[in-house]
Amino acid sequence: MSESKRIDPKSHWEKEFLQKASQEESWYQPRLEMSLALLPVTGVEKEAGIIDVGGGTSTFVDDLVDAGYSDVTVLDIAAPALKRVKERLGDRAADVHWIEADVRRVPLPPARFSLWHDRAVFHFLTEQESRERYKATMKSALRLGGHAIFATFDLDGPPQCSGLDVVRYSPESLLAELGPGLRLIHGARETHETPSGNPQEFTYACFQKIDE
Ligand SMILES: C[S@@+](CC[C@H](N)C(=O)[O-])C[C@H]1O[C@@H](n2cnc3c(N)ncnc32)[C@H](O)[C@@H]1O
Repeated sequence: MSESKRIDPKSHWEKEFLQKASQEESWYQPRLEMSLALLPVTGVEKEAGIIDVGGGTSTFVDDLVDAGYSDVTVLDIAAPALKRVKERLGDRAADVHWIEADVRRVPLPPARFSLWHDRAVFHFLTEQESRERYKATMKSALRLGGHAIFATFDLDGPPQCSGLDVVRYSPESLLAELGPGLRLIHGARETHETPSGNPQEFTYACFQKIDE
């Protein structure tokens, strides 16, 4: 289904999270090991602003808070996902900033973040206009010298996720899409096994913002 023919993304994702437990989602991982392993590559400091864009119900925020990162934001379009993560975190939820919004439309303060993290969100943007809006938001909100970690389906990954078409990338094609002002500092592949046992090839790429 193309992005334009799709139902409203907020309804789609809220329904998804209301109908399934986190462990039933195809993208579920108990811990985002690849993303966590890339943190030292970025050199992000414990006090730096970090945003998990489309964080869903992933445990990345739990691991960041437990590791002592003190300025973590989770943004997602789906209220039920944010609610579930807040409940899971309990008292620790008060240490996190929460934004319920569409990343393509949210006003984020310029240079607010040193690390932008996106696992399996950007690849749903099949229309150039959506990608341009996303990129403008990211590039403005990321400080110069800051880093962005992206995970998308790889070129030989599935063409769809959650019943929606995706755009598949290699680290290099992702750099070409994200455009000038970023440099690729690390690329990797991961074969993710879905809860139902199917392998899915993911690309991981870490970029640094080198120009405004
Ligand atoms: C495939 S899930 C990945 C969730 C999480 N990053 C993970 O790795 O477990 C995609 C997530 O992106 C969110 N999302 C989709 N489109 C979005 C948008 N335009 N703005 C913000 N969040 C969005 C969904 O609600 C969902 O939580």
